Amino acid sequence: MVQTSSLKALVLAGGRGTRLRPLTYTLPKQLVPVANRPILHYVLDQIAAMGIREVGVILSPETGDQIRASLEANPWHFEFTYIVQPEPLGLAHAVQTASAYLEGAPFLMYLGDNLLEDSLVGLADRFLTQGLDALLLVKEVEDPRKFGVVVLDDQQRLVDLVEKPKEPPSSLALVGVYFFSPKILEMVEGLTPSWRGEYEITDAIRRLLHHGGRIEVVPLQGWWLDTGKKDDLLLANRRVLETLRDQDIAGTLEGRCVLDGPVVIEPGSRLRNVRITGPVVIGKGAVLEESEIGPFVSVGPGCRIRSAHIHGAVLLEAVTVEAASLHDSLIGTRAVIRGTGTSHPQLKLLVGDDIEIVLE
Ligand code: DAU
Repeated sequence: MVQTSSLKALVLAGGRGTRLRPLTYTLPKQLVPVANRPILHYVLDQIAAMGIREVGVILSPETGDQIRASLEANPWHFEFTYIVQPEPLGLAHAVQTASAYLEGAPFLMYLGDNLLEDSLVGLADRFLTQGLDALLLVKEVEDPRKFGVVVLDDQQRLVDLVEKPKEPPSSLALVGVYFFSPKILEMVEGLTPSWRGEYEITDAIRRLLHHGGRIEVVPLQGWWLDTGKKDDLLLANRRVLETLRDQDIAGTLEGRCVLDGPVVIEPGSRLRNVRITGPVVIGKGAVLEESEIGPFVSVGPGCRIRSAHIHGAVLLEAVTVEAASLHDSLIGTRAVIRGTGTSHPQLKLLVGDDIEIVLE
C-alpha cells in the first residue's frame, strides 16, 4: 500500500475570475458559496479525504488575504504554504511559481474553482503505485471549446492535448485535477505563452508526452463543474444541494410553515408563514416571511426575505428580497431586490454586492 500522505497538494486560488463579474470584483471566485460553503472548502474536503497533509495555495496579490482568512479556521488540520503568484500568467506559471514548495515531490494539482462528485482516493493510489508522471482526469462535455481537450487513441492512450480549441478534436475535456511527478517542473520551464497570453499546463503536459513521460488518462464517472460562470455555479449549487438527505431545523418556525424535502435551517434564523420545497439551505440569522422558497436555493446568513418566490438561486450574505419572484439568480452580499409582487415579472439576475434594484 502506497502512502498518499507522500503526495503534496497544490491548490490554485489565484487568477482573475472575470467570468463571474460583478460578484468577483469583491469576492474571489473560489470563495463564492454553494450550499452556503465556499467552493474552495469542498476542494479541501476532497484533498483531506485523500490523506494529504501539505497543501500549497496559489494566491493572487489582490485576493490572497480573503483566501487566507477563509482558510484560517483550518478544520482539515492542513499544513498550509501560501504562495503568491504576482500575475495570473497561467497554470504552468503557477506550478513554476510553486517549485520551491513542491521540492521534487509528486503532487496533486487542484483548480480551486472545480467541484467534483467522485472521491479521488483510489486515483491517488493508482498514480503512486504505477509510478506515473501524470494522471489526468477527463470528462465528455457539450462545448469543449471552453476547456483543455485531449485526443486519445483507440487504446485510450494520450495522443495530444489542446487548450480551448476553436475546432475541438474531441469532446473530452481536461478536468481541473491533475496528478504530477516532479518531471512536470522541468516541462513548465521555457514555455511560450499561448494565444490567450498564458503559460498553459496543457503545453507542459504535451511536452511531457513527447519526452516519454508515463501519462494515464482516466474518465471521470460522476459530475464535474468548473464554477467560473453563473449558470455553472447555479448548477453546482443544485448538485451539492441534491446530496442533502434530511431535514435539519435549528431555526425558529412561526405561523404556518410547510417544509417539504431536505431542508437545512441554521441557528438563529426565523421563518414565518413560509413554504419551503427542498433541497434548500438557510444560513444563520436569516429572516423569511410570507414566502415560497425552493427547490435548489441557498439563502446566505442574515438574509431578509419577505413576500417572495425564489427557486434555483444562490443568495450571499445579508441579501434583502421583497415582493419579488427570482429564479436562476446569483445575488451578491447586501444587495436589495424590491419588486411590486410575485406574479410578475420573473427576475433572473446576476447582481453584485451592495446593488439595489427597485421595480415600480
Ligand atoms: O476547469 C478545467 C479547465 O481549467 C481545463 O479544462 C483547462 O485545460 C485549464 O486550462 C483550466 O481552464 P480555465 O480557463 O477554466 O482556468 P482558469 O483561468 O479559470 O483558472 C483555473 C483556476 O486556477 C482558478 O481557480 C484560478 C486559478 N489560476 C488561474 C490562472 C490563469 C491561478 O491561480 N493562477 C493563474 O495564473
